[in-house]
Amino acid sequence: MISLAGTLLLVVPFAPSLFDSCLSSSYHGNFIDGQTVNSLFLPNIACLDSWSSQTLASSASIAEAKHDIHQLVWVQQEVVEPSLLAQIQSFRPEFDSFLQRLVTPKRVAREQDILVAPDRDSEYELLYRTSTAALLSVSESTARTIDTILPRFWKSYLVSSSPVDYIPVPDEALKHVKEVLSNLRFNPEIAAIVDSISVPQMINDIRFLTGEDGVSGIMSRHSFADGSLTAANWLKARFEDSGATCELQSFLAGFSPNVICAYPSTTNTTATTVVSAHYDSRGSFGSTRAPGGDDDGSGTIAILAIARAIARRGIKFNSNVQIAAFSGEEQGLLGSRAYARKMREIDANITVVIQADMLGYRADGEPAQLGLPETIGTPEVTQLVASVSAIYSPELRVGYTAVSRTCCSDHQSFIEQGFPATQIFERAGPIADPMYHNSGDLSDREGYDFGQIKSIAKVQLATLLHSAGYEV
Ligand SMILES: *[C@@H]1O[C@H](CO)[C@@H](O)[C@H](O)[C@H]1NC(C)=O
Ligand SMILES: *[C@@H]1O[C@H](CO)[C@@H](O)[C@H](O)[C@H]1NC(C)=O
Repeated sequence: MISLAGTLLLVVPFAPSLFDSCLSSSYHGNFIDGQTVNSLFLPNIACLDSWSSQTLASSASIAEAKHDIHQLVWVQQEVVEPSLLAQIQSFRPEFDSFLQRLVTPKRVAREQDILVAPDRDSEYELLYRTSTAALLSVSESTARTIDTILPRFWKSYLVSSSPVDYIPVPDEALKHVKEVLSNLRFNPEIAAIVDSISVPQMINDIRFLTGEDGVSGIMSRHSFADGSLTAANWLKARFEDSGATCELQSFLAGFSPNVICAYPSTTNTTATTVVSAHYDSRGSFGSTRAPGGDDDGSGTIAILAIARAIARRGIKFNSNVQIAAFSGEEQGLLGSRAYARKMREIDANITVVIQADMLGYRADGEPAQLGLPETIGTPEVTQLVASVSAIYSPELRVGYTAVSRTCCSDHQSFIEQGFPATQIFERAGPIADPMYHNSGDLSDREGYDFGQIKSIAKVQLATLLHSAGYEV
């Protein structure tokens, strides 16, 4: 564990050229502030001096940690529709009350049905703060449960305690997706397969995951809640029903596990396509309910619908296919980071990742949409998904999402490890769902659109079939 006291911190807008300097060995990740992607470095003084003497970095921010508190946490406000912002206080008072909760956290520590509520130290140090993001150091136990005291439209990310490599997606890894894109044309068999996705089945599935069916007993799928273990076991069984081999993979004590499933390949190849979502959820302060009907129950039922279609049609893939339901997303992509790191360590040949996160909400008067990332996403994969959408789900209006939304899902974990990845989202713009991070995020409500979920799931499945190759 590093000692933070005396550590220098540099926050600077991301540019690939940063990694040609001495800074590259002290890189700790990219983090969003408003519309900007920032890189965080913890350089030594000699490197910082030499870099800043050669670079005109008026937008760089430098701090020195004074206290020896171990865990750095980046927090940021997401970009949401102005109508949603009207529901909350402005950033400054929200941030101040958040800091208050950090030092008096015991009252809220048991919210959201937490299984493991570690003791919190009431210390923090503020190292960076703007009107949309901040970097703090807190104790490790506070860091793990910080999402339970964050303002509603904020997300938090734990910063790795050791430097990480900056791994751009290598050209070699893009060959496959480029080839799929150049060979892409309408395939009536794929159209029939994706059209077979069943909305009544998706309704049953989401009602189990949110507890709306009155049978599953799930009150919350917060990463520490009993309900998320129920969900993990149920998902594993459903994916196995579809012919996959599944594992519950634990990544951190107290967190529910990732559900990782694989279909075998008919040919001897390492090439692997991944479709994913996160099944953990987040509710409101003071409520033990975190149904996560949209976030991310909708993405979870999409990958489940894909598995059910694979089984129904008896599809055999010509290369490896993985379906992953991650946990710990709401605490800062923890489950997917652990998984993507493991895939990098074994040098897995992951050629396409498509993460589904929030597919269900459609604002009154708006058409069904598909939002794709403009910044944090591999452009070639995003282009493939957009092209597949035009062919198989022409009813969707396709566009880019707000920057802050595109950073914040599990595809980022794969991009950080140099795997080609993108995200699919419900809106070509910022978040508009009034039940976002709210205990009212049920499926039986105005604006929750199963038709849109099906249209987007069709795109995810069609991209999978084109990418992996298949036989029926
Ligand atoms: C699969 O291919 C690898 C590498 O080409 C080879 O080493 C391995 O023996 C092959 N396995 C089978 C079952 O053919
Ligand atoms: C990864 O899979 C692709 C097939 O899509 C293949 O062309 C490539 O050689 C594989 N890469 C490695 C390192 O095995």
